[in-house]
Amino acid sequence: MGSGGPGSRRKYQGRQLYRCGSSQRRRHRERAVDGGQHARLDRGCVAVGLRVQLEHESGTRRPASSAAGAARRLGGELGWDPVNKAHLEFCSSPEWARLVEHELLPWVLDGCELGDDLLEVGPGPGLTTDVLRRKAARVTAVELDLGLAAELGSRLAGSNVSVIAGDVTRLPFPAARFSSAACLTMLHHIPSSGLQDAALAEIARVLRPGGLLMGSDGLDTPARREVHHGDVFVPVDPGTLAPRLRAAGFTRACVDVAGDRLKFAAAKGQ
Ligand SMILES: C[S@@+](CC[C@H](N)C(=O)[O-])C[C@H]1O[C@@H](n2cnc3c(N)ncnc32)[C@H](O)[C@@H]1O
Repeated sequence: MGSGGPGSRRKYQGRQLYRCGSSQRRRHRERAVDGGQHARLDRGCVAVGLRVQLEHESGTRRPASSAAGAARRLGGELGWDPVNKAHLEFCSSPEWARLVEHELLPWVLDGCELGDDLLEVGPGPGLTTDVLRRKAARVTAVELDLGLAAELGSRLAGSNVSVIAGDVTRLPFPAARFSSAACLTMLHHIPSSGLQDAALAEIARVLRPGGLLMGSDGLDTPARREVHHGDVFVPVDPGTLAPRLRAAGFTRACVDVAGDRLKFAAAKGQ
């Protein structure tokens, strides 16, 4: 993994933030995945431009609890959203697009081989997907938020990207399907370290032996805690991530810190 790291972080931390008022929270929550929306999808409600996975392919594990369920419980009990509105707006901004393309992804992908069939988990508005899809023949993006999944599916319809509304802790794919996986600035939105570990194990399950997982995340800083006011923020400790990756079924786990971000890479064990 190479050196150097993304540099325009101060702008991110210095952004004007605002609290989600109750109507904003309500509006956003309507877009978030909840049990009702899952139920509608399971009955076959297909959003425009979105390839909705209606039935799990063979070999899929379904853990008893899921990140979606835990996020929903947090949301219900505390009035939180998995990702707050200001954070999502930033993840759609030209500023983030520039940082992703010119700093974050060159740093994270340095020396990594994506192969022909890449899984991206948590694409959000898809600025990371826009870069990844130029580097792999085929990309499958799995996004928890139904509204974001539908928008991205619509925007990238007819491209080499398939967008699926789903939860990384219970992926609707058979074992050993993908050549590589990317998990960019999303692990901290999974509401507990146990569910994060379940997500890592689920990614390992769907990777081919030797397939690479590459990722990044923000470190726990006061500024980042402020950015995440009112949403799910369970930061990843870079000191424990390599053993967690190994426990999830990866080998050659490598974690690197630059500034207020970490990157990681690991290969699915044989
Ligand atoms: C901060 S955004 C990052 C988006 C994109 N990766 C980027 O770096 O621009 C995190 C995304 O992960 C999604 N997410 C959170 N938990 C998820 C889960 N359990 N399964 C799939 N996506 C999830 C959120 O809905 C959100 O869109």
